[in-house]
Amino acid sequence: MLQEKFKKIKQEIIDELQRTKTLEQLDDLQKKYFSRTAGELTKLVKEIKNVAEAERPKIGKIANEVKKEAVEMFERIKKNLETGKQSQDNSRIFDPTIPGKKEEAGRLHILTQMRREVEDVCVGMGFMIVDGPELESEWYNFEAVNVPAWHPARDMQDTFYIKKSRNQEIKKSTDQDNHKLTNLDTNLVLRTHTSNVQVRAMEKYGVPLRCIAPGRTYRNEATDARHEHTFHQVEGLMVDKNISIANFKAVFDAIVKAILGADFKTRIRPGYFPFVEPGFEVDLSCALCQGQGCRVCKHTSWVEFCGAGMVHPNVLKTGGVDPKKYSGFAFGFGLERLTMMRYGINDIRLFHSGDLRFLRQF
Ligand code: PHE
Repeated sequence: MLQEKFKKIKQEIIDELQRTKTLEQLDDLQKKYFSRTAGELTKLVKEIKNVAEAERPKIGKIANEVKKEAVEMFERIKKNLETGKQSQDNSRIFDPTIPGKKEEAGRLHILTQMRREVEDVCVGMGFMIVDGPELESEWYNFEAVNVPAWHPARDMQDTFYIKKSRNQEIKKSTDQDNHKLTNLDTNLVLRTHTSNVQVRAMEKYGVPLRCIAPGRTYRNEATDARHEHTFHQVEGLMVDKNISIANFKAVFDAIVKAILGADFKTRIRPGYFPFVEPGFEVDLSCALCQGQGCRVCKHTSWVEFCGAGMVHPNVLKTGGVDPKKYSGFAFGFGLERLTMMRYGINDIRLFHSGDLRFLRQF
């Protein structure tokens, strides 16, 4: 029956209008029902001429009413949309049966969690936490820590150099960030280690000094399971009167034991870094095989973990400290390596992969 069809279409229009959220959607609906050639309401009106003549006035009246009401509704919704009221009206047709949107809780990246743990341990021993720029002058990154341009040690730490033409601009903005560069004439590089903070910290705070400097570092490196071009280090520096290797050993062991557990052992052996004298490499007992020998430790039951040593007199001098009166130790270890040891992670590239299957485990 045509009469029924008009009632039905009116309900349909009401329903659709309630769901309308934008003027474009409203426009589409207008076409759907009122288009002169194919509009659904238009088509129904055209059908009136097919009903029996006696019925026509009655149907015609109904048709007029529906049309009038529809037009009014369209106008009202249009006004609401234009003034932004429609979205409020729409809340009335909230459908509780539609599944909700799942709110995902975020979390701190595992490296951030680890960095904070290390910071807590060190702060507990009276170390302060200092920061340094990732975009660094060649001077603080190399020269200031006793690595002149001709030094072969530069080859071990190849990095990314900034084009000379960009230098001045960048220097201006780093200055504003409160990272004052005392030597503005050298090139800028992405820092290869956190040791760039050593001289900065001495210049800024003087002695006695006890600080750690955790942060992001870079190397121009072919990546594999153990190497990344972007990684994190934690630098440690303690300068005071009568500081010896024994002090280093005590502080370093305390950090390792607090983070990895009391079972871990450390071993100091000679190593070369131009900014320390004597210099050493610090190994950790291998967590994976517990001394049995495995692929990770290359069957030695020790894994190389950290560079360290007694701060070179040249570096102390550059930092404005008298090496005749003061001595100190410095160390630098990889935060990724520490995390890998703790959790048995076998590929450093996972940290920055953005893979949620990995990240959600921590
Ligand atoms: N900066 C060295 C590196 O990245 C580590 C280190 C820090 C060594 C402090 C000695 C003293 O390899």
